[in-house]
Amino acid sequence: MTAPPLLRVRDAARYYPSGDTVVRALDGVSLEARAGELVGISGPSGSGKSTLLLICGLLEPPSRGEIHIRGELVSNASADLDRLRGFRRDHIGFVFQKANLIPFLTAAENVAIALEIADIAPAAAHGYAVELLRTLGLGHRLDNRPAKLSGGEQQRVAIARALANDPSLILADEPTAALDSVRGRQVMELFRRIAVERNACVMVVTHDPRSLDLFDRVLELSDGRIVSETTARSRHRPEAITE
Ligand SMILES: Nc1ncnc2c1ncn2[C@@H]1O[C@H](COP(=O)(O)OP(=O)(O)O)[C@@H](O)[C@H]1O
Ligand SMILES: [Mg+2]
Repeated sequence: MTAPPLLRVRDAARYYPSGDTVVRALDGVSLEARAGELVGISGPSGSGKSTLLLICGLLEPPSRGEIHIRGELVSNASADLDRLRGFRRDHIGFVFQKANLIPFLTAAENVAIALEIADIAPAAAHGYAVELLRTLGLGHRLDNRPAKLSGGEQQRVAIARALANDPSLILADEPTAALDSVRGRQVMELFRRIAVERNACVMVVTHDPRSLDLFDRVLELSDGRIVSETTARSRHRPEAITE
């Protein structure tokens, strides 16, 4: 029997009032994603990509529809906020377009603080932060503050921070937008590795068509709806879909 999907979104919508009308940022999206899968989200500006990520990450409630993560319904309006916050802290990691590191802390401290917030003792938090940064190729940058790091290195510290709680769902919103194409590719390859090695479900919003080959699937949004889904299978082996 195959495992249930790690993330299941059913008919999710998010409406924002705007003057006399309503902006349908997300307008009935359903999707499933599994552990170990790297899923890309593409689509023009304003198509609802960030809103979809915020809803999947329990940072915004859907106006309609259901979100299940690890088989748990996590979107009902009556859910208590403490429970959702705890669930987010324990199971979800976020990476944003900008690394948003704390400028006066070193790379290792920036990662360790995420663990300390989750009640890990400081010494253990520091040890695990160092281990994570080494895995991401930043062993030589542990004691540097963000200003001394390149954009790509800062983003890798932000990824280490997002991985600190060992999340099963990792959500990244245009994480390579501020990077050149080589560094952007490296970060995308890192997400691929994280999905496979940690058996995590990783969803990445990307505008960069050059990295699309790394994804298992790419969902394209337009006006708050999924308008196409491309799988690696159909991209890499077009002959496989002919009968
Ligand atoms: N907090 C908000 N209040 C009002 N409108 C919003 C809000 N967030 C997003 N929107 C609108 O919803 C639509 C989708 O936005 P977004 O999800 O940010 O798109 P994308 O990330 O694809 O660029 C846009 O029209 C945007 O202006
Ligand atoms: Mg966006």
